[in-house]
Amino acid sequence: MVSRCLAILLAATTAVARTPAGFAPASDTDLIVEYNGFAPLNGAVISKSVTSSEPRIGTLARLNGTSYAVMMIDLDIPTNNPPQTNTLLHWMQTGLTPSSTATQLNTTSGTIRAFLLENRSNTTAVAPYFGPNPPARVPLSHRYTQVLVDTSGMTEEGGQALRAAAAARSGFEASAVLAQAGLEGKVVAGNFYNVTNLGPARAGTVVANATGTSGVGTTSGTGAGASQTSVPVAGTAGLRPGGVLVGGLVMVGMVALGL
Ligand SMILES: *[C@@H]1O[C@H](CO)[C@@H](O)[C@H](O)[C@H]1NC(C)=O
Ligand SMILES: *[C@@H]1O[C@H](CO)[C@@H](O)[C@H](O)[C@H]1NC(C)=O
Ligand SMILES: *[C@@H]1O[C@H](CO)[C@@H](O)[C@H](O)[C@H]1NC(C)=O
Ligand SMILES: *[C@@H]1O[C@H](CO)[C@@H](O)[C@H](O)[C@H]1NC(C)=O
Ligand SMILES: *[C@@H]1O[C@H](CO)[C@@H](O)[C@H](O)[C@H]1NC(C)=O
Ligand SMILES: *[C@@H]1O[C@H](CO)[C@@H](O)[C@H](O)[C@H]1NC(C)=O
Repeated sequence: MVSRCLAILLAATTAVARTPAGFAPASDTDLIVEYNGFAPLNGAVISKSVTSSEPRIGTLARLNGTSYAVMMIDLDIPTNNPPQTNTLLHWMQTGLTPSSTATQLNTTSGTIRAFLLENRSNTTAVAPYFGPNPPARVPLSHRYTQVLVDTSGMTEEGGQALRAAAAARSGFEASAVLAQAGLEGKVVAGNFYNVTNLGPARAGTVVANATGTSGVGTTSGTGAGASQTSVPVAGTAGLRPGGVLVGGLVMVGMVALGL
């Protein structure tokens, strides 16, 4: 199921959880997150330019539920009281259905066969995706965490609780939100990746509407970062050039790998 490259990557990862240490709700089941041939899995470092549009997501094992939701949360939003940080919801999509057949994903981390989560019912995102855009503030490295939640039996009230919690985006606490929605214990897979601003970190306070702070209010993921220089970061062992890069992806790949 898993390619040799990915197997090596996974073997080299000592953490049991696929979600970051200390994060709740934790999951030790792989959530495959793929952006146009890049699969930043299990803490891999990735350039923000790769992650500007919503990824495809999937699982290595076939899921039985009828309905799933994905959430992506930045756990490392700077505040005016460092090292205190805040959280920010980047994406919440409900109404996803698991494919009954695996799709081969050709990625820079190897070939992955995943059962993709599909938006067959064309459900509008509860919180539309916007991409990572860490500002030049402490902490420079942000952990973008994705969890997949089984919403098969979710009530109407549960759906309303998700929508209410997603409206603010800032200060999003996944465990509390899932409890409010009656979805405790329903996380079935997780992942996180690391996008780092190369700095140097600016001093001073966060202006409430400074775009670099969080990206709140942008749905494209590009508006907020338009004034910031795109900062490529060095690749990790998990990111290797594959034979599948095509066209413009080659350039992006070289940037992501620091080549
Ligand atoms: C899915 O169904 C199979 C067979 O019916 C069962 O063994 C498995 O535990 C189920 N998986 C989940 C996640 O419920
Ligand atoms: C992935 O690569 C295989 C060959 O390794 C090829 O047959 C397949 O068409 C590729 N899939 C995509 C979506 O590019
Ligand atoms: C979802 O959108 C696609 C593409 O626009 C369309 O072909 C399909 O019929 C839609 N499905 C539903 C359930 O509305
Ligand atoms: C699902 O479909 C809706 C309506 O077309 C769209 O707004 C949303 O972005 C889609 N989400 C995903 C994950 O494809
Ligand atoms: C994220 O990546 C940066 C750059 O490689 C590294 O300095 C930092 O320690 C990483 N942070 C986490 C939480 O993994
Ligand atoms: C903050 O927003 C207000 C009103 O939209 C605007 O007048 C002000 O210039 C903005 N400040 C910064 C630093 O962007």
